Amino acid sequence: MALIDVVVSDIVQETPSIKTFYLARPDGSSVGEYSPGAHVDVVGPTAITRQYSLCSRPDGSESFAVAVKRETSSRGGSAALHDVRIGDRLQISEPRNLLGINSAAVHHVLIAAGIGITPMLSMARHMDVHGISFELHYFSRTEEDAAFLPLLRDRCPEKLHAHVGVGRDDQGAILSAALTRVPAGTHVYVCGPEGFMDKARVLAETFVPADAVHIENFHATEQPDASENSAFEVELDGETYHVPADRSIVEVLQDNGCDVDTSCQEGICGTCIMQVLSGTPEHRDNVLTAAERESGEVMAVCVSRTSGERLELDYY
Ligand code: FES
Repeated sequence: MALIDVVVSDIVQETPSIKTFYLARPDGSSVGEYSPGAHVDVVGPTAITRQYSLCSRPDGSESFAVAVKRETSSRGGSAALHDVRIGDRLQISEPRNLLGINSAAVHHVLIAAGIGITPMLSMARHMDVHGISFELHYFSRTEEDAAFLPLLRDRCPEKLHAHVGVGRDDQGAILSAALTRVPAGTHVYVCGPEGFMDKARVLAETFVPADAVHIENFHATEQPDASENSAFEVELDGETYHVPADRSIVEVLQDNGCDVDTSCQEGICGTCIMQVLSGTPEHRDNVLTAAERESGEVMAVCVSRTSGERLELDYY
């Protein structure tokens, strides 16, 4: 994966635990635009790569911004990023979007908790500027912890529903009341802590079709014990490769000189997705949508496998 060198051009302390880092090209040239909801991989000072949603203006071009919460359990990822200073160099990937705005939807419900506000911020900014129908439900423990709340109150007060200090047991009732009112053709987007997203997704799917619920999930799925894997064959570009039980598809392909990009290697970033021409994938990622899984036409080859004997793949 080609990485882009960037320099930290500004840092804003948004909350006691969240900082926004503005990332510009060292020569001052444009970083380009991105589609709302997109994220980048950020290679931090300890060479750990993490995925962060972009929260600058999608149509801005001077710098990208990522908001990083310092996790108390961080072993070098977010903690190391919180120590960088203006002028430090980092590397990022090109933006990728796993949470794009569905252009056919008649209305959009954005649901965020905590740091999950970051992809929703770029989506809300875009929809507000372009007159697209949306509402944003933002859950936060306290006002002090709610990054970008003043900005949202200023820019789109009539779309914002700030739920500050709401206990977990009451979140479902608030979301149910909101989702009861939405018109047919609404799409729902969710980002936040894993437990919150699981509950919000299940709830949303009782009001809108499952393929109209979109999740931004940068958490890896727990993988089955490798001893339960079986070996199989993979065909790519007319060549057949043997994938043993203890190796991933991408490891085998890369060892054989195939040009497959990877980043997270945990099934969460979407970099390694390949097309499935034949065979049945056994999905173990956290990046494909329910519809993509069901189609069986794509798979994340860093973690997913097959319980069959053969897969035929192509570059995506
Ligand atoms: S490398 Fe990130 S999903 Fe496979």
